[in-house]
Amino acid sequence: MSDKPLKPGEEATQAVLPADASLGFIGHVETPWKTLADCPKRADPDGPVSTAVVNAPWDRALIGVEGFEWIELYLWFHKARRDLLVIRPGHAEGLRGVFSLRSPVRPNPIAVTNVRLLGIEGNRLRVAGLEALNGTPLLDIKPGRCPFA
Ligand SMILES: C[S@@+](CC[C@H](N)C(=O)[O-])C[C@H]1O[C@@H](n2cnc3c(N)ncnc32)[C@H](O)[C@@H]1O
Repeated sequence: MSDKPLKPGEEATQAVLPADASLGFIGHVETPWKTLADCPKRADPDGPVSTAVVNAPWDRALIGVEGFEWIELYLWFHKARRDLLVIRPGHAEGLRGVFSLRSPVRPNPIAVTNVRLLGIEGNRLRVAGLEALNGTPLLDIKPGRCPFA
């Protein structure tokens, strides 16, 4: 979690979330982005190739995924702060509640990214233009939708 100083007007909380759900990682992603500053803000279908690696036994659950041109990757943004309530986003004026943004900063840092599936080799899915940090844990995969349709 970052200990970056808050900007004027930003709010954080010391509240502890009740742990009433547990998630397990099914794999991770391999991307060109080695630091958060390198990561693009959003997925880009024309961006560089990344790989989603699905660990056994969950790789068996990939049967049929090859039929989709677009898939949604559910990621756990493990480097994100989880205590912020109100932030001053870089791309907009003023203060915003984190639920009004797609920022990685949120109590449960689940990201959803709709990416083009380029191919599957065994347990490795090649996808285009992922915006996540290299090594980001993978939570789930679902059929996606072409964003241009
Ligand atoms: C704006 S978010 C978009 C998230 C996703 N498309 C969504 O809508 O849920 C993308 C940014 O999250 C940050 N990020 C990427 N991987 C991360 C990680 N593993 N932990 C924390 N932040 C991450 C990077 O700064 C990247 O530019």
